[in-house]
Amino acid sequence: MKIIIDSQDKISSMAASMIAEHAKAKPGCAMAFAAGRTTKKVYDALTAMNIKELAECKAFTVCEYGGLEAGDTRSCAYRLNEELYSKAGMTQIFTPNAENADKFDAEIEECGGIELAVLGIGTNGHIGFNEPATPYDSYTHTVLLTDKTKQMNAELFGGLENVPDNAVTMGLKTICESKNVILVAFGSEKAEIIHQLVYGKTSTYVPAAMLQMHMNMTLLLDDAAAEKIK
Ligand code: GLP
Repeated sequence: MKIIIDSQDKISSMAASMIAEHAKAKPGCAMAFAAGRTTKKVYDALTAMNIKELAECKAFTVCEYGGLEAGDTRSCAYRLNEELYSKAGMTQIFTPNAENADKFDAEIEECGGIELAVLGIGTNGHIGFNEPATPYDSYTHTVLLTDKTKQMNAELFGGLENVPDNAVTMGLKTICESKNVILVAFGSEKAEIIHQLVYGKTSTYVPAAMLQMHMNMTLLLDDAAAEKIK
């Protein structure tokens, strides 16, 4: 695992440059994008670069809340469209569907696999919405969200009681089969889980720790998120 620590602005620019390089090196490749406050900073940096090759790439949204209407402004699909897809001119967009989860993996395969997955991390170690105790060999599947994850996202929904109970997500196996992975984390509230990601056992209780075994994994951190691994 490669680890890079710098300011939030520099990390966001570095992550954006990595995405741009893959789009240029592998025209039309498939990429997976997670929504979140952290990755939004990366997408802001990326769209400011005006990378024309991105428009040809296929975009797979890593996960989605259950029970939201199409076009709900809180959905991952809506946010990613606003923050990245529409600004970059990307039109080949794929979103996981709880009613037909297998279809998403078939679509990934048809596109030749994910060239690059861009992830954030939950304070409980979730990636996408793969919560603790998710099996390592999971493909796209539906999940019940934990209280911790719901609390993390309560602000977006105007209160804990409004956060959906379930979601659909690329599985750990789907994510780990990506040829390249970058995971971005900012802030001291992520410091403990980043320590577990880097030094912890690869137990299913810390889903992100599975990325220790990935051959092309880059962890991008600001100083606060890195404070327990220095
Ligand atoms: C959310 C999403 C993840 C995201 C993570 C971190 O619950 N399902 O895909 O990467 O948690 O989000 P944030 O960057 O807002 O802390």
